[in-house]
Amino acid sequence: MKTILITGGAGFIGSHVVRLFVNKYPGYKIVNLDNLTYAGNLANLIDIENAPNYEFVKADITDGELMKMIFDKFRFDAVIHLAAESHVDRSISSPMEFIFANIVGTVNLLNAARQVWSDFNGQKFYHISTDEVYGSLGATGFFFENTAYDPRSPYSASKASSDHLVRAYHHTYGLPVVISNCSNNYGPYQFPEKLVPLAINNIRNNKPIPVYGKGENIRDWLFVEDHAAAIDLIYHEAKIGETYNIGGHNEWKNIDLIKLLCEIMDRKLNRLPGTSENLITYVKDRAGHDLRYAIDSGKIQKELGWKPSLQFAEGLEKTVDWYLANEKWMKNITSGDYQKYYDNQYVKR
Ligand code: NAD
Ligand code: DAU
Repeated sequence: MKTILITGGAGFIGSHVVRLFVNKYPGYKIVNLDNLTYAGNLANLIDIENAPNYEFVKADITDGELMKMIFDKFRFDAVIHLAAESHVDRSISSPMEFIFANIVGTVNLLNAARQVWSDFNGQKFYHISTDEVYGSLGATGFFFENTAYDPRSPYSASKASSDHLVRAYHHTYGLPVVISNCSNNYGPYQFPEKLVPLAINNIRNNKPIPVYGKGENIRDWLFVEDHAAAIDLIYHEAKIGETYNIGGHNEWKNIDLIKLLCEIMDRKLNRLPGTSENLITYVKDRAGHDLRYAIDSGKIQKELGWKPSLQFAEGLEKTVDWYLANEKWMKNITSGDYQKYYDNQYVKR
């Protein structure tokens, strides 16, 4: 039986990857390692928590000695590394947490893998990264796998740094690595600090929808299960040393996306058309706000036959339905300190 370590499996994307691997591959043992930060939530995995091929380990990747002990114990055949601090706004207010989790944490895992995989025979260290490492685009153009790195926030700089270290361990020590860089994900189980679940939750509760700057920044949106499917494919098919870009070819100006969400929410909540749009509130812009991200995913499409399965309107409807059907999940994570954090966050323009 292959034993695969998935880090950050209690978070948004990680929980979808864990669920997919546990259900699809009963012959793999999946170990989910996560230290359960504010973004980690075992309720995301309630449907598979008793599966015979699943085990949860609560541990912090910034503890290098602990990582070596855990690798020694489980002798993983592969690592799919998602654990990270993931929110750009938090990286602006608390950069050091991103340096520790995203850079030091990744190096600890690389060192532990290197120590246990002395023969490098069939193992794989798959590092999950972001399109933000490539910087910001103007009105035209796309990010390709060979686009030069140009990270511009503490979050993207910490992810770029971890990507460089993963590649350095491949070139220097021969560690068998693969990397993918994905665009903005949306879907069930996303923490409501990110634009889509934050807007859904605020509309549900008749609260202002904060739009940074003029709402003209552009992101390329991908349904999270399509990202998980790409990770499955890359894990199984990619050659060692390769990088793949993953994206939806689905660019939206923030303000247009929010207006579409308002329209869907009015319909689902039986509110008069235009009710939710009244909640749109322009607030102070994010410092150093990247203008546009757009991924060219031609390589994964051509080489591995992946493509997004959902149209955006369909994915967004599905997402809204999930959040409306799971209000208890939302209530549980938005109690406590959540409101205090967000009330301080937004300065009205
Ligand atoms: P998330 O914040 O929802 O989840 C991160 C998980 O990592 C949480 O469960 C958290 O508890 C865990 N974690 C954080 N620090 C840890 C530590 N020190 N030790 C152990 N566990 C720790 O993030 P997400 O949105 O699911 O992103 C997952 C990965 O995918 C990240 O590496 C992120 O950079 C990358 N990514 C995200 C997106 C996106 O749109 N969300 C897009 C591209 C790439
Ligand atoms: O591109 C991939 C990245 O996408 C991932 O690497 C990150 O982990 C993930 O958080 C996401 O980063 P963004 O900064 O693009 O996502 P966020 O949801 O925070 O913001 C999306 C856009 O919406 C961005 O232009 C900022 C804007 N925004 C965001 C929030 C939370 C608002 O206008 N208002 C808001 O309240």
